[in-house]
Amino acid sequence: MGKKVTVVGAGFYGSTTAQRLAEYDVFDTVVITDIVEGKPAGLALDLNQSRAIEGFETKVVGVTTGPNGEGYESIEGSDVVVITAGLPRKPGMSRMDLLETNAKIVRQVAENVAKYAPNAVVIVVSNPLDEMTALAQLATQFPKNRVLGQAGMLDTARFSNFVAEALNVPVASVRTLTLGSHGDTMVPVPSKSTVNGKPLRDVMPAEQIEELVVKTRNGGAEVVALLKTGSAYYAPSAAAARMAKAVAEDSGDVMPVCAWVDGEYGIAGVYLGVEAEIGAQGVKRVVETDLDADERASLLEAAEAVRAKQADISSM
Ligand code: NAI
Ligand code: 2OP
Repeated sequence: MGKKVTVVGAGFYGSTTAQRLAEYDVFDTVVITDIVEGKPAGLALDLNQSRAIEGFETKVVGVTTGPNGEGYESIEGSDVVVITAGLPRKPGMSRMDLLETNAKIVRQVAENVAKYAPNAVVIVVSNPLDEMTALAQLATQFPKNRVLGQAGMLDTARFSNFVAEALNVPVASVRTLTLGSHGDTMVPVPSKSTVNGKPLRDVMPAEQIEELVVKTRNGGAEVVALLKTGSAYYAPSAAAARMAKAVAEDSGDVMPVCAWVDGEYGIAGVYLGVEAEIGAQGVKRVVETDLDADERASLLEAAEAVRAKQADISSM
């Protein structure tokens, strides 16, 4: 059977994710849905017309869904569902300001995913990310390994890009890592970052590393402030699409994702940004890495901050 992926939400994040997934040419079908009449069908038509130029056979199907789940039958049989539905930030807003509005949207979407694609792996991207991932698991009642969130891949990519630009080296020579929440308690991890295999701390002064850590934490807000309407989508969609591909291919790739943590780092019972091995069933295993005392303390702080907020969402 060919692989099928659904992207819920045909805004900037969803449409660019659908494009990347189609262009990989590893799925039979990419379904893109939205509540806006005509938009997903229009995007699908347009994407399919690029097939002859880009050279992919994947078919894109666009479906408008209704308030009572109308249209969701189109997602049946999906191996992966990426949830991008929800409002993005406006300048000055924190991701947390989106909590109540997006919780309603994500709950409704997740309930329909559970009904129509009960075997899918769910990748959440709607913000605030850590909370919306926890909510999607609650609303689907899927096993926790089958619900994960995208944030760490993006935050890590931003950190790597900033390091490469600062040192004027190819981005391919840079490895970085970012754990924790997709918010104020994001934890960029310099101790695990390298340039051409050398520790970042040997090739960059501590103050400059700290500047780039702060810039990484503000990476999303910097884009929002420039765009003025909406938030980033090129790097975010690249991250979510790679995660969906890893699931479809059962690759076992280790990626920084928002996953259910159950004892690793001495933290349990919370969705949090950690490294994990990704496969056909979502998270195969959370991969614990050695951290400095400071980084470990920051990760514990992130876990407690996210835990407090995740406790609120069960009533949303
Ligand atoms: P957008 O405003 O361009 O698109 C959102 C789309 O969701 C709209 O087309 C809207 O009609 C649709 N939608 C609303 N309710 C829906 C429902 N019930 N079912 C289906 N579709 C529905 O926003 P954009 O830029 O695509 O961002 C989407 C979300 O992703 C936002 O919450 C944003 O904050 C988040 N985001 C997360 C990132 C991450 O790293 N986790 C990075 C960037 C954005
Ligand atoms: C980002 O980090 C806003 O979460 C979004 O770009």
